[in-house]
Amino acid sequence: MSERGRTRAFLVMEVMREALAKDPKETIHLEVGQPSSPAPRKVREAASAALQGEEKLGYTEAAGVRELREKIAGHYKTSYGVEVDAGSVLVTTGSSGAFIVAFTGAFDHGDRVAMASPGYPCYRNILEALGVEVVELPVGEETNWQPTRAMLEEAMKGGKIHGLILASPSNPTGTILRSSEMQDLCSCCSTHGIRLISDEIYHGIIMEGRADSALQFKKDAVIINSFSKYYSMTGWRLGWIVCQDPQLAQSFENLLQNFFISAPTLSQLAGDPSSLLRLPLTDLLLTRLLLLFLVSSTLFAGIAAFDCIDELEQHVERYKKNREVLLNGLPKAGFHELSRPQGAFYIYAHVKHICKDSMELAKKILADCSVAVTPGLDFDLSRGGEFIRFSFAGATQDMERACEKLQRW
Ligand SMILES: Cc1ncc(COP(=O)(O)O)c(C=O)c1O
Repeated sequence: MSERGRTRAFLVMEVMREALAKDPKETIHLEVGQPSSPAPRKVREAASAALQGEEKLGYTEAAGVRELREKIAGHYKTSYGVEVDAGSVLVTTGSSGAFIVAFTGAFDHGDRVAMASPGYPCYRNILEALGVEVVELPVGEETNWQPTRAMLEEAMKGGKIHGLILASPSNPTGTILRSSEMQDLCSCCSTHGIRLISDEIYHGIIMEGRADSALQFKKDAVIINSFSKYYSMTGWRLGWIVCQDPQLAQSFENLLQNFFISAPTLSQLAGDPSSLLRLPLTDLLLTRLLLLFLVSSTLFAGIAAFDCIDELEQHVERYKKNREVLLNGLPKAGFHELSRPQGAFYIYAHVKHICKDSMELAKKILADCSVAVTPGLDFDLSRGGEFIRFSFAGATQDMERACEKLQRW
C-alpha cells in the first residue's frame, strides 16, 4: 500500500455502517449530514422524463452541460449580486469530486494549507493524501468556531501558507463568518498570495443572519458548492466549482477530464430543464410526443433544482424546528455545552464530563439508545475526543424521539 493510501477513515461513514446494520425501525440517524427528504419533485420528474426519452445519457463535456453551468452562473447574480461567467463554472461529482480537483490543481506536494479545526475531515484527509501539509487553525467558541485573520497571520510565522479552506456555515458547528471577518480573511489571502478555497455547501440552510460568498470580496477565490444539502440531492452526486482564474480553471478542467470524464449525466439533466428540449424531437413518434407532453408539460415550464425554492424552503423550516428541539432537549439529557448553529444542520457538543473518548461514547450511545452520532475525532484530531456532533437533517419526530431516548439514558 502507498503512503497516500494510509488515509484516515471518514469516521461518520463508519458509524453509519454500524447504524445501518441495526434495526431500522429503532435506529435514529443523527450521525450523517443527509436530508431525510428526497430530491425536489420537479427534479425527480425531470430525471424520469430524461430516462423515458431518447437521450443516451452518455458522457457530457467534462466541465458539464452548458445550460446547467449557465443556470449556476445566474445563481450568483440572483443570490449574491455577483457576475459570474458560465465558462468559469465546472460541474463536478458532488463537492467531494470538486475537492480532489481543486486541491490537486491548486496545491503542490509539500505546500502548506490552513483550515479550521474542528473542520470537515475530508479536507484534511484529501490534502494529506496529496502530500500537502495541513496547518490547523484551532478555533473555539470565542471566535464563533471560525478562523480569524490573526490566526492566519500567526500560522504564517511557521512558514509560507499556500492555501486557506473556509467553510461558512461550518461543519461541525453550523456557525457563520461575519461579513467583516470574511472580508478580512479575503484581503489577508490577497496580500500574502494565499489561494482561498471557500466551501459554500451549506448556503441556503440559514437560521440566523446571512452567509456571504467569498466571491463578493475576492474575485479569484475558488468556490465549491453542491446540490447535496440545500437541494436535498446527496445521492445524485452533483456539485460545482467556480474559478475565475482562467489558467487554474483550465487546469481543473484537464483534471476533471482525466479523473472523472464528466459528472453524472442524469443528475445534470435533471438539474437542467432545457436539456430536455434537446431530445431528438424530429424523430419522435406521436406516442412519444404525447407521452413527453403529458409527463413534462410542467417540466418544460422550467424544472431545475434552482426552480424548486418553495419546496426547499420548507426543508429549511424543518431544520429550524429541529434545531430548537435539540437545543432544548439535549441539555436535559446532560449535553449542556452546545454550539449554536446559525446555518447547516449540526450541533457540536462538549462531552468531556461524560467521556474523553468520543468514538467510544458514540459506540455506547448507538448500542444503548440506538441513536447514531458522530465522534468529534472526525473533525479535530487533538480535541475531538471531547466532542460529538449531532446532525438535525432528519425528520422532526426523530429529533424528539432521540431526545427522549438520550434523556432516559
Ligand atoms: C462541509 C462539507 N463539504 C462537503 C461535503 C461533501 O458533500 P458532497 O455530497 O457534495 O460531496 C460535506 C458532506 O457532509 C460537508 O459537510
